[in-house]
Amino acid sequence: MPAGSSPGYASPTRSRLIIMDAKTNIALELIDLEPELEDFRQAVVEGLSSSPQKTLPCKFFYDATGSALFDEICDLDEYYPTRTEINILRDCVSELGTLIGDNRLLVEYGSGSSVKIRILLDQLPLAAYMPIDISREHLQQSAQRIAEDYPELAVLPVCADYSQLTDLPVYQKNPGLRKVGFFPGSSIGNFTPEEAQHFLQNVARQLQPGDGFIVGVDLKKDPEILHAAYNDAKGVTAAFNLNLLSRINQELDAEIDPTAFNHEAAYNDSHGRVEMHLVSKTDQQIRLGDDQFELATDESIHTENSHKYDVDEFQQLADAAGLKPVKVWTDENHWFSIHYLER
Ligand code: AVI
Repeated sequence: MPAGSSPGYASPTRSRLIIMDAKTNIALELIDLEPELEDFRQAVVEGLSSSPQKTLPCKFFYDATGSALFDEICDLDEYYPTRTEINILRDCVSELGTLIGDNRLLVEYGSGSSVKIRILLDQLPLAAYMPIDISREHLQQSAQRIAEDYPELAVLPVCADYSQLTDLPVYQKNPGLRKVGFFPGSSIGNFTPEEAQHFLQNVARQLQPGDGFIVGVDLKKDPEILHAAYNDAKGVTAAFNLNLLSRINQELDAEIDPTAFNHEAAYNDSHGRVEMHLVSKTDQQIRLGDDQFELATDESIHTENSHKYDVDEFQQLADAAGLKPVKVWTDENHWFSIHYLER
């Protein structure tokens, strides 16, 4: 889009920011819904005070170090989801194109899954792309890169917490543009099933009848494969989990010794999820500003859930949220699935 031109939005926008790339001269209008950033300190204090199970929210894994470690995880031999989903997407993209039709607005929930979004942008005749992300800086950078590489595409970045978003900003230049949502990576598995249902209901609300939603969902499988994926031999997942403690030290004036904890990840069959924990090696006290927390030997802090679904189970969840299953693709091992749902 040339400098100065504007896609024009209507409510619920809070502020608009023209972001200009000095090298390319491409100007984009970023819609900032000014997401409320959950208070990190408050969330940590609440989680460490919770009894009998201490917890820390997994959304705080992703500082700069955590994001870099997550990128490394995605390339690990044991961590099958990323490459499996990419392969399925490459195989099903032309069929997806037929189901979706031409001239759509592609809404990506969480931006930056660069390889995956580019498979869609390369193959589907889209009119516009709306990446939604809570990190303004990350959103700006990834939106600028896409605008540069796809000059015909209207790029409409929205800074928002997609897990809380009920309505999308209206693209006033073409308010009737049909939409298709995209939520890859099985990030939906990091929600509890109730949260996933709530999120899917919000998505359904943001779409018109007949609009589509593409979602990547990790499947239930042999627990040994899951165990390896979350306990890799190089220890990258352990470093990712333990980095949360280093982040707390750096940002919250805390004194926690990460070497006094073990990374543990195990499949919990009754909940159908991999749980990650940080397990205290000794009886210890950790300090966070003026607050102190006691941990007994072997006591754990629960840091992440990664739910796995059967195809039917997920389809029922989506259907109950108002998104009708139309088609599903899986890999030959039946490890990962991509669902096309329709409002
Ligand atoms: C981002 N999310 C889908 C990943 C998962 O598999 O639940 C995060 C992750 N945690 C450990 N390894 C990867």
